[in-house]
Amino acid sequence: MVDSLKKPGFEEMRAGTKVPAKETLLTPRFYTTDFDEMAQMDLSVNEDELKAIIEEFRADYNRHHFVRDEQFEQSWDHIDGETRQLFAEFLERSCTAEFSGFLLYKELGRRLKNKSPLLAEGFNLMSRDEARHAGFLNKALSDFNLSLDLGFLTKSRSYTFFKPKFIFYATYLSEKIGYWRYITIFRHLEANPSDRIYPIFRWFENWCQDENRHGDFFDAVMRAQPQTLTDWKARLWCRFFLLSVFATMYLNDIQRTRFYESLGLNTREFEYEVIKNTNETAGRVFPVKLNVDHPEFYDRLEICVKNNEKLTEIVSSNSPKPVQFFQKLPYYFSNAWQITKLYFLKTIDTVPTHGMAR
Ligand SMILES: [Fe+2]
Ligand SMILES: [Fe+2]
Repeated sequence: MVDSLKKPGFEEMRAGTKVPAKETLLTPRFYTTDFDEMAQMDLSVNEDELKAIIEEFRADYNRHHFVRDEQFEQSWDHIDGETRQLFAEFLERSCTAEFSGFLLYKELGRRLKNKSPLLAEGFNLMSRDEARHAGFLNKALSDFNLSLDLGFLTKSRSYTFFKPKFIFYATYLSEKIGYWRYITIFRHLEANPSDRIYPIFRWFENWCQDENRHGDFFDAVMRAQPQTLTDWKARLWCRFFLLSVFATMYLNDIQRTRFYESLGLNTREFEYEVIKNTNETAGRVFPVKLNVDHPEFYDRLEICVKNNEKLTEIVSSNSPKPVQFFQKLPYYFSNAWQITKLYFLKTIDTVPTHGMAR
């Protein structure tokens, strides 16, 4: 029987099915793109590398990995209160992000099938992996008496349109940052097993290898379209995507500090580690990386953290909506200013290091 007292206070669409989290600037996005433009891309300059990566996808190393074992067979009611809420939210966000990858890759695989078979195969095999990841997370949600209606999510979410090259920058970064997040949590819990309060983290080691390979696929696609990496616009866009991905993760995670603390992590240390590593990795393909060691980098993000706290306070106050609007304005401006200043912080040119060991 479900002990309703221990259930987190989530809104349900029907018994046990959680109403998806409200969309904000910081929630995982759903993407769509110009399929014809992607179909017409000539990939011949890097076809061998693409084929090699697809061959790895076919080998399907994680075919038998995503199977739940007896470690899950117990009640999780002892994870309660705020920790339970944060846990369920972590699972939901991760599941939504994985599922959004699945939808995009599946659609790309379908639309490119006859026009660009190599790309189509890569996308289909990646959608296979993302479906497993999302499914595994959704099963985990059921341990907390919740589940996400993925069909409903497919229909009800709004889709963000990105031209193909922006899809490549964004998905490349989300795969690589996903890799670093999963492996960092895994290694921390491997060193501190008593912090592993739920078994799903044991699966992260092989899991993150899927994300790493997915990132490599986009790396190879961008190299097959060299102008996405070499012209002056590439520098500006890579800078933009690096900053948006890092800032979004930072602001999201700091808001949920207590979740990371429940795993024994220091949230800020975790962020520094993941951002530093993702920035280094991206610098091997992007023409620039961010100067994340610059003192302004985290100082400005911290100002945004403070602004967001104020914004939350205003929204939860009893002031009338129009008053709230004017109260919020200075914090929005401050956030925009901090991010603009960060955007113009001098980047590090990585081109001279390209060609060295990848
Ligand atoms: Fe995934
Ligand atoms: Fe992935």
